[in-house]
Parts: sequence; structure tokens; C-alpha cells
Amino acid sequence: MESLKGRKVLVTGADGFIPSYVCETLVQKGARVVALVRRNSSSVLKNIGHLKKDLEVVWADIQDSSTMIRLTKGVEIIYHLAANSHVAYSILQPVESFTIQAVGTINILEAARINDVGRIIHAGSAEEYGETRDTQIAEDFPLLPRSPYAAGKVAADRLMYSYWCSYGTPVVMSRFFGIYGPRQSAEKAIPKFIFQCMDGQDISMYGDGSQTRDFMYGTDAGEAYAELGVANNVVGGVVNIGTGKKYPILKVAEDIVRLMGAKVKIAKDMNLKPGEASHLVANPTLLQKTLGWKPVVSWEDGLSRTIDFFTKNRARYADLAGRV
Ligand SMILES: NC(=O)c1ccc[n+]([C@@H]2O[C@H](COP(=O)([O-])OP(=O)(O)OC[C@H]3O[C@@H](n4cnc5c(N)ncnc54)[C@H](O)[C@@H]3O)[C@@H](O)[C@H]2O)c1
Repeated sequence: MESLKGRKVLVTGADGFIPSYVCETLVQKGARVVALVRRNSSSVLKNIGHLKKDLEVVWADIQDSSTMIRLTKGVEIIYHLAANSHVAYSILQPVESFTIQAVGTINILEAARINDVGRIIHAGSAEEYGETRDTQIAEDFPLLPRSPYAAGKVAADRLMYSYWCSYGTPVVMSRFFGIYGPRQSAEKAIPKFIFQCMDGQDISMYGDGSQTRDFMYGTDAGEAYAELGVANNVVGGVVNIGTGKKYPILKVAEDIVRLMGAKVKIAKDMNLKPGEASHLVANPTLLQKTLGWKPVVSWEDGLSRTIDFFTKNRARYADLAGRV
């Protein structure tokens, strides 16, 4: 495997939760990181402020094609993670969710083709597989997206593949399973359960808790995804990013209650959220073989670090208290 040291890389959506770990890993490995952050009126960085001196931050929207062509000149690797990452939001705003993924991704592919970028790694999702059997999902499982978000991910993933087939553009289609850790959006299940325990509220769970997910800690996800930029034998292919371990959501809630010593009940709603898949657990064989690597942070350790982060940073999320 080649080294990332000294390579000029572009990270889209860089101020997001997973992208912040990708930026940390790339900086640690000595890459020259251009961090593309969506324009906003305040210009405040949420998740990569601590890395500011090691990054070149550019404010841009991936839907702007001419800007993407300008920003990818001289770039060797693009880590493409920008998206509206919320399934529930995509059900409320399907056109916006889908358009960012489809238009943004084709803009990045065109820019990469024009500027001869060496590799593009797309951040796809396990949601692309949609409804699955209760078994580990390998990369060749059918894609049956169940939400506009997931359909947008499939569109982006297949656009990547089409550029590989049509122009030989060097792409990698990665698919993240559940990623968790400090800095995750407060309305996702793990932070939501932590806030409910902190506030002494009963945990509100969608479904009966038997739905299963695969959870990888943020630093491990950042490491795996960054390495796909230089790994051998992955160009033109799909790679799942997951641990292969299966966690029923009920166990996730019980572990949080136990670790926090909270005196709260777990209320089961019995209705899954619209668009939600029942089981999403990765077959991680290809990832582990490709990188010669396994995740290093255990579930208990990662969960404890996450609880610690949200406990210490409660004030930063105070305005979300009513929504979680
Ligand atoms: N968190 C997970 O478990 C998970 C699982 C599967 C896939 N993913 C994918 O990984 C990526 C990162 O996920 P995350 O959980 O860190 O999400 P996130 O929402 O924290 O990060 C995504 C970032 O993309 C930015 N963005 C959105 N639209 C943009 C645009 N038009 N131009 C530029 N930037 C834009 C957002 O501002 C945000 O900072 C996303 O593509 C997401 O769909 C995440």
C-alpha cells in the first residue's frame, strides 16, 4: 500500500461527523488536506475547528460544478462524504436530499475526470442494501433502497461505477454501516439515548429493539476510509465499512443505561420509522483482507468515550434537548 504522506487530498463535507475523523486521520498520516465545508452565513466550524491550522478550509457547495472543477486542480485523492446524511430528513425533503447526492456526485466525477484526479472514494451507506435478511451483508447483495436518502446513495454509488466503466475514472464505492462516537448528530440513536439518560427521561425506541445494526467507532471508520485512498486492488470495486458484529438496538439502549447508571425505563414504540431497514450488519471480510486491518476500539470502550464526550459537551447540544 502506498503512503498518504505529502499527498494533496480533498475531503467533501469535511466538517461533518465521520469526515472530521477522516480529516484527523489524514492529517496524522501527513496528507495535505483541503477541507471542503458547505457555505453558511456564520463560517463557524463545528467539528474540525481543532484541526484548523493543519487544513486548508474552503467554503463551497458540491452542487456548484465550476467551483468543483476549480477546487480539484492538482488534487490526487478525493474523499467524497458530503451529503444530507439523515434518512428521516430525506422523507420530509426528498428532492433536496436526492439532488445533493446525485448532482453533487456527478459534479465531483466530472471535475475529477477533467483534472485527472488519481482516486475518488465515495461514502456510500448500508442503507443502499435496504431490506435484508438477518445475516451479514456482503458487497454483492442486491441494492433495495427504502428511503429517498438510500436511493440517492445508490444513484451516487452507481454514477461512480458508470464513470469507471465509461471513462476509467478511478473510483472506490465504500459503504459505511453504523458509525458512532463523539460529535455524532444529536438525533441519531446513540446520542439520543445518552441525552435521555442524562435528562432522566425514559428511552424512546422505534420498533421493539430487535432490529440490528453494526457499530464502528469514529476513529476506526476514519482510519479504514482514509486507507481506501491508497489501498491496492480496490479501484472499480465496492467495499463495506463495518465490523461484522451484530447489536440489537435494545442491547444498545440497555448498555447505555447500565454504563450511565441511569434510572430510566426503555419505552418500545413498536413502529419502525418509515424507510428504516430491520437488519444492517456488514460482512467485513473484504475490508479486513484489503487493509490487513481490524477495528481497534471495542464496543464498551467506544461507548464509554461517547458517553463521556456528550456528558462533557452537554451545553453545546442544549438547544437540541427538546428535539431528541
Ligand atoms: N453516520 C453513519 O453511520 C453513516 C452511515 C452510512 C453512510 N454515511 C455517510 O457518510 C457521510 C458522512 O456522514 P455523517 O454521519 O458524518 O454526516 P454529517 O451530516 O455529519 O456530514 C455530512 C456533511 O456534508 C455536508 N454537506 C451536505 N450537503 C452539502 C453540499 N451540498 N455541499 C457540501 N457539503 C455538504 C454537511 O454540511 C455535513 O457537514 C455521508 O455521506 C453519510 O451519508 C454515514
